[in-house]
Amino acid sequence: MTFPDTRARRLRDHPVLRRMVAEMDLSPRRLIQPLFVKEALAEPAPIASMPGQRQFGPAQIAEEARRVAEAGVPAVLLFGIPAEKDAQGTQASAPDGVVQRAIGAIKQAAPDLAVIADICLCEYTDHGHCGVLGEAAGRPTVDNDATLPRLAAAAVSCARAGADAVAPSDMMDGRVGAIREALDEADLAHVPIFSYAVKYASHFYGPFREAAESPPAFGDRRGYQMDPANTDEALREAADDLDEGADLLIVKPALAYGDIIRRVKETFAVPVAAYTVSGACAMVEAAAARGWIDRQAVIREVLLSLRRAGADLVITYWAAEVAAYSPLP
Ligand code: PBG
Repeated sequence: MTFPDTRARRLRDHPVLRRMVAEMDLSPRRLIQPLFVKEALAEPAPIASMPGQRQFGPAQIAEEARRVAEAGVPAVLLFGIPAEKDAQGTQASAPDGVVQRAIGAIKQAAPDLAVIADICLCEYTDHGHCGVLGEAAGRPTVDNDATLPRLAAAAVSCARAGADAVAPSDMMDGRVGAIREALDEADLAHVPIFSYAVKYASHFYGPFREAAESPPAFGDRRGYQMDPANTDEALREAADDLDEGADLLIVKPALAYGDIIRRVKETFAVPVAAYTVSGACAMVEAAAARGWIDRQAVIREVLLSLRRAGADLVITYWAAEVAAYSPLP
């Protein structure tokens, strides 16, 4: 059947029917809010490259998390910035570390809010790399296998502090298995691993590195994060992490990587979260500030595109804000 019997506009041109037949939505239950907690910070500090986002001190983080929960967002993804950094990233696994204490405080203030602890060393090392340093073939590099016990210790300490899930974002090989084994041995078999299985070496992370105070002091992260030219590699990364015990897969960045989200979701049929990273946020904010785009409409469109691509969950700096939006008329 063709025109005039078929008219695609029939459902589109009626505001109620249009909304009823929409396939995707941005229900708050789909959203995860990242939060930054910085040791020894007295007052919330704005992050210049991420308009509207702030670092919080230990005294304010629980209150902020409660605000997120009250907006209807079910989970936060927590990043810590310690006062002391060293070569091993010791503070990442300190029982009284900035993130561990924040987890405890948040669970008290908002018991129903899920706290996901981001697990990586880059915020904790004085060189800013995601693992401990070593050498391969005479070149300085991040020592994969020496990093695994550090990540496992960080995951166990966050889980002990009350984290509902741990999310390794370092891209070392074998870290999901190492973390799973350490959690199980520590009687934490119930704690799931949200693995950043597919994480590209992306320039979209620029503003985050200011927020987390974690730029690498030398070189870059291409020795461990994925090449943006690749897609098959994303499937191998995801398969390995699932074999090692990952419960949920994260794809990052999300914007500009919709094809990867779709392939991962279709291939593995497991829960997938897409992380709209700091650079995507910065681009939208910068254009909106100049009046070049309609900020709220573009945010909605960006996040819907990730749901359409196949993401069950979206990690976004706009989570609490979007949760308060009313549906489009
Ligand atoms: C590393 C980490 C990064 C982000 C989250 N975890 C950056 C990196 O790999 O340098 C980026 C998030 C963002 O850009 O919003 N632990």
